[in-house]
Amino acid sequence: MKDFIGKNIIVTGCTSGIGLEMVKVLDSEGVNVFAIARNEDKLTKVLGQLRFPERHSAIIMDLNEVESISGSASLFPEKVHGFVHAAGVESVIPLRNMSYHMMDQIMKVNFYSFLEIVKIIAKQKKVTYDFLTSILAISSIASGSGSKGQTLYSSSKASLEAASVTLSKEFSRKLIRFNTVKPGLVLTEMTTRWMRTAGHSDVSEVSQLQLSGLATVSDVTNVLKFMLSDDSKHIVGTSISLDGGGPKTTLD
Ligand SMILES: NC(=O)c1ccc[n+]([C@@H]2O[C@H](COP(=O)([O-])OP(=O)(O)OC[C@H]3O[C@@H](n4cnc5c(N)ncnc54)[C@H](OP(=O)(O)O)[C@@H]3O)[C@@H](O)[C@H]2O)c1
Repeated sequence: MKDFIGKNIIVTGCTSGIGLEMVKVLDSEGVNVFAIARNEDKLTKVLGQLRFPERHSAIIMDLNEVESISGSASLFPEKVHGFVHAAGVESVIPLRNMSYHMMDQIMKVNFYSFLEIVKIIAKQKKVTYDFLTSILAISSIASGSGSKGQTLYSSSKASLEAASVTLSKEFSRKLIRFNTVKPGLVLTEMTTRWMRTAGHSDVSEVSQLQLSGLATVSDVTNVLKFMLSDDSKHIVGTSISLDGGGPKTTLD
């Protein structure tokens, strides 16, 4: 797509699943990717496998270290055309076993780090710049219909959705729009871990939860790509569900 060539797009969660696929897609579209990950070896390997590795920049950042994020501002481009917050951690834990430390860890990676990165992007964007910036956070259908034990995960995702509404208003003057994309079940390592924790061993059974089965990472990045492009310029402050129509059957 001509639209993407030479644009600067930041992606978190680049070492696995949806974020990894996003980086591959943007690489093939001529984007300069600013890839954020906590593990330098993993990220070097990811970037090394792309078609145009020289075009991209690696930013090593543990999103748990929220207080340190602002210190990396000089590694960000001045002109940011897009940001996809794909990093995230899942959690299935009943309230009685929840410590404040656990609550903090989930919110830091899933939500607070998103705010800190947006702060840098917004501060660096001058009001005189006439291009649109599209900021996307990956929420989840759990934001509105989480299962037992998903209190922390669901709340962190609902926070992203709420922030996308308010931040769209706060930064419209700078032509920054915010949206969230909320998938159902996607075939990634996160889903494999969730199935283990929730005691679901049969993928074909879990596939029955969505009309078209488990989504692939490409099913999600196709939508993210559209949302990053100016073709979606009128979509602002909203949340797009990729839930496969909901369950055809329900698991116990
Ligand atoms: N899979 C699904 O069914 C599903 C459904 C709805 C929403 N989502 C959301 O989609 C997003 C991507 O999920 P996924 O399935 O692709 O997950 P994934 O395969 O587990 O990948 C998660 C990514 O987040 C990174 N990450 C985790 N903690 C980090 C930290 N402290 N600092 C920096 N990076 C960190 C991981 O890095 P490491 O490689 O270093 O661990 C990894 O690159 C998440 O926000 C998730 O909540 C997923």
